[in-house]
Amino acid sequence: MHKKTILEIKNLRVDIKGNLGWYSILNNINFKLFTGETLCIVGESGCGKTFTALSIMKLLPEEVKIRGNILFQKKDLISLPDQEMRKIRGKEISMVFQDPLTSLNPVFTIYQQIGEMILAHTKIDKHSLKQRCIQILKEVNIPDPETKLFSYPHQLSGGQRQRILIGMAIALSPKIIIADEPTTALDVTVQAKILKLFNRLKREMGLSAIYITHDLSVVSEVGDRIIIMYSGTIMEQGPKHEILFSPKHPYTKGLINSMPSYEKKGQHLSPIPGYVPGPDKRPDGCPFHPRCKYKKKICSIEIPKLKEISKDHLVRCHLIY
Ligand SMILES: Nc1ncnc2c1ncn2[C@@H]1O[C@H](COP(=O)(O)OP(=O)(O)OP(=O)(O)O)[C@@H](O)[C@H]1O
Ligand code: SF4
Ligand SMILES: [Mg+2]
Repeated sequence: MHKKTILEIKNLRVDIKGNLGWYSILNNINFKLFTGETLCIVGESGCGKTFTALSIMKLLPEEVKIRGNILFQKKDLISLPDQEMRKIRGKEISMVFQDPLTSLNPVFTIYQQIGEMILAHTKIDKHSLKQRCIQILKEVNIPDPETKLFSYPHQLSGGQRQRILIGMAIALSPKIIIADEPTTALDVTVQAKILKLFNRLKREMGLSAIYITHDLSVVSEVGDRIIIMYSGTIMEQGPKHEILFSPKHPYTKGLINSMPSYEKKGQHLSPIPGYVPGPDKRPDGCPFHPRCKYKKKICSIEIPKLKEISKDHLVRCHLIY
């Protein structure tokens, strides 16, 4: 079956100015999001996952330089004037942010916040607005929505706040939803419920989704395809089952070995030694080489190219010919 592309990222590069010059936070990122799929972006903290999402939303901090193309239904968002982007943000492409407490304004009620967002994009009378807000809370399984609508964020639990943010993200029936670690701050049972909710809404609304996480075990619940990112660079990319059950990149293998799973219960987990370098500390060659147990001489000299090893499965490693 021919897949339709809804979003295409081409040669995306994001640079930031540091004390000693410009550093790249994202390095030559290329990927497509197909209509109706969930694409997961996975990597440890500091790999550039949030920056990738913020680039698509055009919400990057002032001090960065962005280059490349972000094609949404063939329109390049990078060169789109702010006024046009405002019509797309929230309405066509929406985002659930990493931290639910800071993404909701503590001094306004949930009604004021959802209401304001809807009013920014649609003309709707007061009564219908309230009904629409209650309907959104129902869709994301908030108990007693008529009362909860008039609560302030601190009066809700962490899981409820995250549900509200998901509700806000789907309120205007967008085409794409980007979820940035929406379950990280929650305990495991609440996490599972939010993932279920996300999957249901995605299916019912026919959304295309980008789901960002550092946790590969979440991916088995949500994704169709996976991108493995390290230090602002795509290391491996492919269908979910291939990445999870037949990973080729040493970094992906390391992430899988450090993942608690049913089969490994009781066994010793082996986290990858070392840490992700900041953009100003990225070594020459393969950015993963200081932590890689398979590294060869060439690894510290030359960055490997992303090679297609089978249909839709790409790997960036000198071990792959
Ligand atoms: N204002 C800034 N100035 C310089 N570097 C920054 C700035 N903001 C972020 N970075 C760096 O950019 C890199 C990418 O950050 P990003 O937030 O995209 O990571 P992430 O993968 O989302 O991590 P996490 O899982 O912790 O959310 C990190 O190394 C971070 O330290
Ligand atoms: S290119 Fe070299 S250092 Fe990088 S992941 Fe492959 S073997 Fe390891
Ligand atoms: Mg992040």
